[in-house]
Amino acid sequence: ASESGPYDAVIIGGGPGGYVAAIKAAQQGLKTVCIEKRGSLGGTCLNVGCIPSKAMLNNSHIYHQTQHDLKKRGIDVKDVSLNLPQMLKAKEDSVTGLTKGIEVLFKQNKVDYIKGAASFVSPTRIAVQLNDGGETEVEAKNVIIATGSEVTPFPGEGLDIDEEQIVSSTGALALKQVPEKLVVIGGGVIGLEMGSVWSRLGAEVTVVEFLGGIGGVGIDEEIAKQFQRSLTKQGLKFMLNTKVLGAEKKDGKVLLKTEGAKDGKEQTLEADVVLVAIGRRPYTKGLNLEAVGVEVDPRGRIVIDDQFNTSVQNVKCIGDATFGPMLAHKAEEEGIAAVEYIKRGHGHVNYHAIPSVVYTHPEVAWVGKTEQELKAAGVQYKVGKFPFVANSRAKTNVDMEGQVKFLTEKETDRVLGVHIMGPNAGEMIGEAVLAIEYGASAEDIARTCHAHPTLSEAFKEAAMAAYDKPIHF
Ligand code: FAD
Ligand code: NAI
Repeated sequence: ASESGPYDAVIIGGGPGGYVAAIKAAQQGLKTVCIEKRGSLGGTCLNVGCIPSKAMLNNSHIYHQTQHDLKKRGIDVKDVSLNLPQMLKAKEDSVTGLTKGIEVLFKQNKVDYIKGAASFVSPTRIAVQLNDGGETEVEAKNVIIATGSEVTPFPGEGLDIDEEQIVSSTGALALKQVPEKLVVIGGGVIGLEMGSVWSRLGAEVTVVEFLGGIGGVGIDEEIAKQFQRSLTKQGLKFMLNTKVLGAEKKDGKVLLKTEGAKDGKEQTLEADVVLVAIGRRPYTKGLNLEAVGVEVDPRGRIVIDDQFNTSVQNVKCIGDATFGPMLAHKAEEEGIAAVEYIKRGHGHVNYHAIPSVVYTHPEVAWVGKTEQELKAAGVQYKVGKFPFVANSRAKTNVDMEGQVKFLTEKETDRVLGVHIMGPNAGEMIGEAVLAIEYGASAEDIARTCHAHPTLSEAFKEAAMAAYDKPIHF
């Protein structure tokens, strides 16, 4: 039991939502503890998500570029070969460095950290099964649930995840050898990022997607089509409008049965490894929510109001475990806002200004409304586009695929959405997020001086195209 009285804030889960909430709470003078059962901080994102996937994306890109792109730049490299164990180690080193860094931040900010699995005894009392054995209990004035999400299992036969041959993203981040044939079920963010990694390292990759387009929820349809063309050029194969029915293992291979969603045509695909990437679902197992009456919706999401309150007083929820996009930066924003509600009674997250980034090459990034959403809502809008092929920096870098696309309100010129496919799109989208946050018009951006020669001039010129005309295209 806690000897020095109750905690002001007990945070369950040490992912981007939970650890950020814990640091913020301690900074606000709240006596804070974070309970995490994984054994390391950072949650899905740092341990098996954002960070290791970006390490593999970056290094596989360098490998691929060295093989296919350096010669024409005047760099002759001999005997390029893949050292996969070393690439995996580099990934592990990035993860360890960052997860340990959060422990340091906890110490600096005086956040208590308990390694163990938390469950509710009452709304103000939390029991913890300690990782090292034994149990403890803590008293809480406020609880923030930040237990995140887990992989959605495939509903059909023969595709139970073993993390070796039938893998989730976690297994796909640690394959011991490059599979000859990788089939990815789901053409969303994980499928495209991890499919890119293994394709660059030499696998033949086929992505089977149930819908008619790739990129997951929220992508602009025009950009999705360009994106698919780009990845196809890189060697990925796509089977759209296709349903996976089930699979069986035979002679060391996996045989997948698929069916055309429109024509009902059945096919069998052979794979050495199958990646199941059909989405993630909230994770609340073991929390004992029923006992205290925290309401969960039919999709397993903890129900909250607009101030992150669950159905139980003084128990809040943030991040992947509740509504909204499953993104690390969204969880972090909610972590800060939830603490501000506890401390000051008000907080703020602008759900219209949450960026999405797919870290392939080129990158794809967006914020705000898509063109199809504006059409469906009957909004009068303008489009301003600028291709990277007309941008001086992209040209000098010989990295010119893609474009910046602005969507603005016709009458007011206000920026409603920005969609980018191109080099460094993930960094560039920050400018669009700021524009939307501040209610900027395309003209505001077009009249803002951007350094030359930078990729960001393409951003400025797309804004010029939306309200008037660009100069270089
Ligand atoms: P999590 O990060 O899932 O953390 C929850 C933590 O709670 C876990 O560590 C878990 O062990 C712990 N926990 C659960 N139950 C208990 C309990 N009862 N007691 C104690 N501890 C408990 N998002 C991005 O924004 N950018 C990306 O590039 C990106 N890449 C991704 C790549 C992959 C392969 C995956 C799988 C995800 C990626 N995401 C990315 C999504 C991102 O990881 C999540 O949105 C984010 O981690 C959610 O944060 P969270 O704090 O809500 O939950
Ligand atoms: P996702 O929701 O992005 O994509 C899943 C895809 O699988 C969808 O296109 C869906 O239509 C398809 N699908 C569903 N069932 C299917 C079936 N039976 N057969 C074929 N296709 C099927 O989910 P994903 O890629 O698993 O990622 C999970 C979460 O992780 C996402 O919500 C994402 O936000 C987050 N993430 C974010 C990243 C980033 O920000 N760069 C990177 C990786 C993950």
